Amino acid sequence: MARRTTTAATAPSTIAAACLFLATLTHAIDPMWLQSSYSGGENPPGWQEGDSPGQTVFLTDGGSDVSGNYQLPSCPTILIGSAQVNGDPDSGWQGLPTVVGMDLARFPLAGYGDAVLPYYIERGKNTMNIKRALVVQPGKSRDAWKYGNLARNSMICAAANDSAPVNMDEVLVTAPMWFSDADQAAGAVGETDVYFKSNRWYEGGMSRGPGDVEISSVTALDQFIGSFMNREVYPNLETVVVLGHSLGAQFAQRYALMRDAQDGDDRVRYWIGNPGSFAWLTTARPETIQSSCADSYNAWPYGGNATDPIRQFPSTFKDEFEGDWSGVVSRYLTRTLRHAQGEADDGPGDTHCEAQAQGSTHLERGQNFQSMLECMDRGRPGNIVFDYIPDTSHQDYPMMAHPLSQYRLFLETDTSTGDATVGDEATCNAATTTTVGDDDDDDNNGAAGRGRTMGAWTIAAGMALGAVTVGW
Ligand SMILES: *[C@@H]1O[C@H](CO)[C@@H](O)[C@H](O)[C@H]1NC(C)=O
Ligand SMILES: *[C@@H]1O[C@H](CO)[C@@H](O)[C@H](O)[C@H]1NC(C)=O
Repeated sequence: MARRTTTAATAPSTIAAACLFLATLTHAIDPMWLQSSYSGGENPPGWQEGDSPGQTVFLTDGGSDVSGNYQLPSCPTILIGSAQVNGDPDSGWQGLPTVVGMDLARFPLAGYGDAVLPYYIERGKNTMNIKRALVVQPGKSRDAWKYGNLARNSMICAAANDSAPVNMDEVLVTAPMWFSDADQAAGAVGETDVYFKSNRWYEGGMSRGPGDVEISSVTALDQFIGSFMNREVYPNLETVVVLGHSLGAQFAQRYALMRDAQDGDDRVRYWIGNPGSFAWLTTARPETIQSSCADSYNAWPYGGNATDPIRQFPSTFKDEFEGDWSGVVSRYLTRTLRHAQGEADDGPGDTHCEAQAQGSTHLERGQNFQSMLECMDRGRPGNIVFDYIPDTSHQDYPMMAHPLSQYRLFLETDTSTGDATVGDEATCNAATTTTVGDDDDDDNNGAAGRGRTMGAWTIAAGMALGAVTVGW
């Protein structure tokens, strides 16, 4: 073009400026994160000798990693594969994998001897620049390495969005590791690492060890989150996001209920993706309460009843929950909560009758939980928001890497969005407030009585693509 013009004198600089402008636009992120720099299968940035196998570069349409995840078409960036690990979640993990670009560190739990909480944290980031720390919970497989990596993959993708790029230098991904007694028997648990009976960490349970150490997972997480509030280490930190999918979401939701009012609360927000059940805030339930559940349907972790004889309520919080449940609920309602529900997540998840009383699928439980909030005295507070993610089932990475979720996780700073809930699909309806023994209205139970807008997600159901991760 420049060769043909007669006013060539000005053309080159104009073109150069245009090119520079374009270059800036297309390279908002370092090319080392872009798919165009790879053919797939290479070691990703940050790889070093000794990192666990499996963590290679995956491109869109380039297959899936050991966890069944693949790069989404909306992400022009690389997907770093999940690390391979020895053992399994049922018989226990035999060790923790070494994750590319992350350190495996141990957080000292003050007041609990030399007990420590193991966690993954991105390597080499300047804490002075960090504005936002993500505290990613594992799923029911206690796979902190996988979930920390998925959050990082979502962040890399969000950093390549030129209309609203995330600055990766300002975000820090961390993932605490909640061990079980099976992991202890199988060998992964270090001498001073805290561990729990099976997955009781997700309900704030008390630890089984090390030694005779008894600490609630909530107390441990309080301390861990508190470390990011330290202005000397993180002078610019504005936000801590506590997030999880499936069982990790169950923990995030219950943590928001159990966490005391404490310094830094105004900087903490929660992202809760497709939990298998909720700790319900009222004693009513939207679905039939089976007779086998008449006493237990509202027992913790499904509801606020802390006195169930079979399920031991975490001792740290027992007095408060028994004595001031309404205070616990009021505190919860002030928190900055972001729910994400896959519109195609019609899997049953938790099949216990306590969970079934909340809805028969992950999606229904989320909608019913929203409906419960809408029905409360002052309605759903604007600081509690529900996003319904289209065409997505019980899929951790597609949930976390959807642009809406990326906005919630990496960019959003407002606490209240008022009415701006996206895909608002649940409204208050008396049909969603069944109580035990309330059988005077046939419409109380069953689909016919529900007041929710069901069209959108019914259509979306069954459209989920690719790997479906099974779990709570
Ligand atoms: C809590 O559970 C106990 C034991 O099942 C039961 O006796 C009690 O009535 C329950 N309380 C509430 C408020 O649901
Ligand atoms: C980029 O970010 C904007 C604003 O959050 C969002 O609307 C858009 O969908 C994102 N694009 C992609 C490809 O993720």
